[in-house]
Amino acid sequence: MRIDVLTLFPNVFEGFLGESMIRIAREKGALDVRLHDIRDWATDNHRSVDDKPYGGGHGMVLKVDVVVPAVEAVLEECGKENRRVRTIMMTPQGRPMSQALARELSEEKNLVLLCGHYEGFDERIRELLEPEEISIGDFVTSGGEAPAMCLIDAVARLLDGVLGEPECAKFESFSEELDGMLEYPQYTRPPVYRDVAVPEVLTSGNHAEIEKWRREMSMKNTGRKRSDLLKHTLEFTGDEEE
Ligand SMILES: C[S@@+](CC[C@H](N)C(=O)[O-])C[C@H]1O[C@@H](n2cnc3c(N)ncnc32)[C@H](O)[C@@H]1O
Repeated sequence: MRIDVLTLFPNVFEGFLGESMIRIAREKGALDVRLHDIRDWATDNHRSVDDKPYGGGHGMVLKVDVVVPAVEAVLEECGKENRRVRTIMMTPQGRPMSQALARELSEEKNLVLLCGHYEGFDERIRELLEPEEISIGDFVTSGGEAPAMCLIDAVARLLDGVLGEPECAKFESFSEELDGMLEYPQYTRPPVYRDVAVPEVLTSGNHAEIEKWRREMSMKNTGRKRSDLLKHTLEFTGDEEE
């Protein structure tokens, strides 16, 4: 998969791209991330990318006459005429990011991510480019870079061949395999630490019992921490119709 990122701060991505799962995804050739500095499309001597908001108010707004040509140029470089390229604006006003959306995006060949900054985008950028808008949650970060990194990470680990054991991504919190619930508790050695022991069933070797226990714990965990997700569980399992 190719992901093109438009940002005012390309250096922010440096460590992220060179470590952990993203480094592995890139080394395996599953992921190709290309960074584009929006400032390269500025037209004045000061390389301005933002200006004061019409109507007054605080902060600076990203300029339509810089951002639109920047995105169009990147789309052209991606060969948009010949293939589907999803253009995504990172914004707190967007569709909430989810595991289902990460899976959907991981099926694409090419994504273009647009990171905002300051007060955000001149509204005409939305009108002219009609991007998909994605939010990573109901809170505001100072720029789209951290949200874009969250999205890239969530998508990259789902790409074929990236995770050493692909099953890892299957039985995880929010996955279809767990009916959208949270994961069950996990343990590793030592079997007892400060008098706290690993649940006996996990060392019993009885796989049917382990599976049953995990399912129950997954439900309990979800009920305790995120009861809102149990509604999705009903949708997944079809229990609602019964
Ligand atoms: C300070 S925010 C601007 C927020 C904007 N004034 C508003 O109220 O909607 C600057 C940029 O950070 C990014 N951003 C902030 N919070 C985000 C979130 N929850 N999800 C995705 N992107 C976000 C967006 O790219 C946004 O343009």
